Amino acid sequence: MKHLIDPHDLSRKEIEDIVDLALDIIAHREMYSEVCKGKKLATLFYEPSTRTRLSFTAAMMELGGNVLGFSDAQSSSVSKGETVADTTKVISCFADIIAMRHYVEGAPFVSALNSRVPVINAGDGSHSHPTQTLTDLLTIKREIGRFDHITVGFCGDLRYGRTVHSLIKALSRYEGVKVVLISPDVLRIPDYMKKDVLEPNGMEYREVNTLEEVMSELDVLYMTRVQKERFDDLDEYERVKDAYILDAAKMKLGRPEMRVLHPLPRVNEITVEVDDDPRAAYFRQVENGKFVRMALIYILLRWAEEGKNPDEPLVPEDVIREGHTCNNPKCICNTENVPAGFRKAADDTLRCIYCEHQPD
Ligand code: CP
Repeated sequence: MKHLIDPHDLSRKEIEDIVDLALDIIAHREMYSEVCKGKKLATLFYEPSTRTRLSFTAAMMELGGNVLGFSDAQSSSVSKGETVADTTKVISCFADIIAMRHYVEGAPFVSALNSRVPVINAGDGSHSHPTQTLTDLLTIKREIGRFDHITVGFCGDLRYGRTVHSLIKALSRYEGVKVVLISPDVLRIPDYMKKDVLEPNGMEYREVNTLEEVMSELDVLYMTRVQKERFDDLDEYERVKDAYILDAAKMKLGRPEMRVLHPLPRVNEITVEVDDDPRAAYFRQVENGKFVRMALIYILLRWAEEGKNPDEPLVPEDVIREGHTCNNPKCICNTENVPAGFRKAADDTLRCIYCEHQPD
């Protein structure tokens, strides 16, 4: 069975098929209004969400299906200590497909390992957010018209920003994508993203400190919120929280064809005056999220019926179980009774199979 835990679970063709199906849904909404009749989506949200949870709900409703689940894990038996594995075994008796958001990295992966229905990662800690990536790709397709030969500036929290990590992974499959990483030093992109994604795929990238120096070269400016909830040291958050504020003056430095994306929510990193600029695409991006999730639910359910399996086993056959410890306290192998496991990366160093961190 196919799950969506990481953007790399989908081939380039599969991603393009989902984006194309979303475009068809936009053009022919009525044709899809009953295609999931009798099917149930479970939304298991252990962390707050507005867009992702409600767009999943709206998507399933527009496909004619039903939705069950929780938006506050404390109202479920999680508060009694039930594990992700057991919760999944229970919910997959009730639902045909699961969307899980969790503050613990690797939780949706463990869910997939224990599920008899497809599992979608709706965001796990600072790690990955593949359905936001599909949303971003549909938005780039509709606004720019192509995925290749574009320059994308990622601005803000590149260290904890799971949407940034996932979108870079997806774009790494396209020719001529240039990446500009705009962040304070403490919010630089994790090393594994450079070693496993940017460098092996030959992506041209550079790290800079100011928006002003790069605005004029960007096709897409991908703004992000500095995420207070991810910081262990709140003094550090206070020092960097206002590092980048996109306002009308900075927008004047951008080209007329540039588009501004943001996964939202925003705090103050984009002033409201920018909302009226036609290049501000972030509210159009929200609506694209519903259409692309409609396409994803429909395709994953169809693949489940056809018995389609992942191209690679979920856990690599040569997984290394002994002799190493994952040093990420937010990884599920350190928060639940889940056996540590590591795979070899392109540079021959090890990566945790749940959170991708390099072990001790
Ligand atoms: N973009 C996004 O994931 O938003 P929510 O946290 O509101 O779901």
